[in-house]
Amino acid sequence: MEYQPKIIAREPSHHEIGAAALAEIDQLLSHYPQPQGAAIDALTVVQKYRGWVSDHALKQLAEHMSMPVADLESVATFYNLIFRREVGKTLLHPCNGLSCQLLGYKSIQRQLRKEINIDEGETSANGSMTLISLPCLGACDKAPVMLLRESTATINAAGKAVIRDKLLTHITTTELSAMLDDFQEFIHG
Ligand code: FES
Repeated sequence: MEYQPKIIAREPSHHEIGAAALAEIDQLLSHYPQPQGAAIDALTVVQKYRGWVSDHALKQLAEHMSMPVADLESVATFYNLIFRREVGKTLLHPCNGLSCQLLGYKSIQRQLRKEINIDEGETSANGSMTLISLPCLGACDKAPVMLLRESTATINAAGKAVIRDKLLTHITTTELSAMLDDFQEFIHG
């Protein structure tokens, strides 16, 4: 599962929502009679540019949308793919649905713990990877599966967009080790 990457620049400030993100949010708001209807999409836009949604960004967004901060916060905390704390550039999402549980999810978790020393919900010490298991990814016939994602779009030294979502299927612990090596090399190389 891959999609065409959208190349975007990281936000100029770590704490503020930039003009490009606000323009996208205004576009979303124009489709809804009430700002609440655009809440999840607006949070997704903030996260697309910043990687996660800080308290400051949440407050700024709520003000921009003329919404109570508490309402926006409840939307943000309900969705487990809206991050309220900083996450690694690469997101590892092993599937913990029933088929994947039966066919290797536990060994994938063990391998991740061994290779990069992270448990569920944690970010690696070098800040590069975060582990968040997800329920059924809709590929049970290929279990066990894992989704790899980039938390924000980036551009590498050669000017190539590197953001992508990739569904790894029938993943074995050996393949996982090789993949993690590749990622570490990519992130630090
Ligand atoms: S249970 Fe893992 S893809 Fe369905």
